[in-house]
Formats: sequence, C-alpha cells, structure tokens
Amino acid sequence: MRIGILGAGNVGGSLGAAWARHGHEVFFGVRNPSSTDVHALLDRCGPRARAESPSDAVHSGEVIVNALPWPATRSVLEHLSIGDKPLLDCTNPLKPDLSGLEIGTTTSGAELVAQWVRSSKVVKIFNTTGYNNMMDPVIRGEHLTMFYCGDDAQAKHTAATLAHDIGFHPIDAGPLSNARLLEPAAMLWIWLAIKGGMGRDFAFQLVKR
Ligand SMILES: NC(=O)c1ccc[n+]([C@@H]2O[C@H](COP(=O)([O-])OP(=O)(O)OC[C@H]3O[C@@H](n4cnc5c(N)ncnc54)[C@H](OP(=O)(O)O)[C@@H]3O)[C@@H](O)[C@H]2O)c1
Repeated sequence: MRIGILGAGNVGGSLGAAWARHGHEVFFGVRNPSSTDVHALLDRCGPRARAESPSDAVHSGEVIVNALPWPATRSVLEHLSIGDKPLLDCTNPLKPDLSGLEIGTTTSGAELVAQWVRSSKVVKIFNTTGYNNMMDPVIRGEHLTMFYCGDDAQAKHTAATLAHDIGFHPIDAGPLSNARLLEPAAMLWIWLAIKGGMGRDFAFQLVKR
C-alpha cells in the first residue's frame, strides 16, 4: 500500500521503516524533509520511502498514519485534507510531564481526532506499546497483541492488515469510543516503563485458553 505518515520520529520512523521493509511505499510528511535526521531515516528505510511535506504525504498515501505529538495533532490535521482515507491514529493525549492523560473516560483523543478531520474512518492503533516493539513485534516467538478500534469496517481491516504485515497480532477492540480504554492502557504501559522501572522491553499480550 501507499502509506502517508505524519511525523517521522520514534513511532512514525519505526512503523515506516518496518512497512518499507515489508514492501509498502512510505511517504513521511515532515516539516523539514532535508534534515539530517530525516535523511538518516530514509537511509534506514531503503528505496521504498521518501520524505515530503505533510500535505504531499497525505496526497500520496492511500492510508494516513498520525504519528505526531498530541499537542501538534489538532493544528496539523486541521490544515490537511484527509478526505475519506483511513486515518490510523497512534497518539496518546499525554500531559506534558507524562503524569497522566489530558482527556479521557467520557471521550478520547481518537474521537477528537475524528471530529477535527470530520471523518468516520479514524482507527486507534499503535498506541498501546512502545516504538521499540513496533521495530520488533515478536517476543519469545510470540507475535505481540495490537489492539485497534474504529467505526468503519474497511478502515479497520486496513489497519489490521498493516499491523499484521509487520508482525503484530491485531485484535479488534470494537468501536472508536473504545479508545477511551486503549489510551489509558497506553498510560499504564508508560507508567510501568518509567515509574515502575520496567524499561521498554515488555508488552501487553492477550492470551486465550
Ligand atoms: N514513543 C513511543 O513509544 C510511543 C508509543 C505509542 C504511541 N506514541 C505516540 O505517538 C506519537 C508520536 O510519538 P513519538 O515518540 O514518535 O514522537 P517524536 O519522536 O517526538 O516524533 C514526533 C514527530 O512529529 C513531528 N512534529 C512535531 N510537531 C510537528 C508539527 N507541528 N508539524 C509537523 N510535524 C511535527 C516531529 O518532527 P520534527 O523533527 O520536525 O520536530 C517528529 O517527526 C505521540 O502522540 C505519542 O504519544 C508514542
């Protein structure tokens, strides 16, 4: 697929490199396509990736990934025309000091994103684990769980396929309003990693009897 990724940092870069490695075409939408960091990322990704402006990346992609920091998300998305392309939202609406979420329980970052882009094709995904697990989603031979939720069946299918392609085991977690559950789950991961002292090398795994 042609994947437009807004943001080329830890998450955007890890996902983009993984998708390029698995044969997808990746278009990073960045503020400065000629920066040394972006060049280093493109070198890592190989010939199937390029960097361009956010609006060009949205134009180039059949599916769009939001890997921006939460504080930048609204202003960037509101200036782009995502149309009816699936939008995979990886953000977590973190307080700047990582002490908790800015919003939650009665709405979610994903639902706000859907309002801002006026789209029913937003899927919450790639928010409940660290970027290091996006680079390598297999631990002890197990494909890591990746929860996703959304209201559009086709957009969810695209999200699940892209998660599966890079080695995750995607799990349908219901409607977009269930991002009210997935975003706090991310906060738990962050708490365990930082305050809980576990570091980044762990993941939540769904196990069935
Ligand atoms: N880090 C994780 O393990 C993790 C895991 C799951 C979810 N998330 C979520 O994923 C999102 C990205 O996290 P990250 O760790 O990848 O962040 P990051 O490494 O700081 O990367 C953010 C990217 O967004 C770009 N950016 C920032 N402000 C922008 C703006 N106004 N316009 C255009 N581009 C802008 C940055 O570009 P510049 O280089 O130009 O600043 C950079 O490429 C966050 O919402 C985070 O909560 C993170």
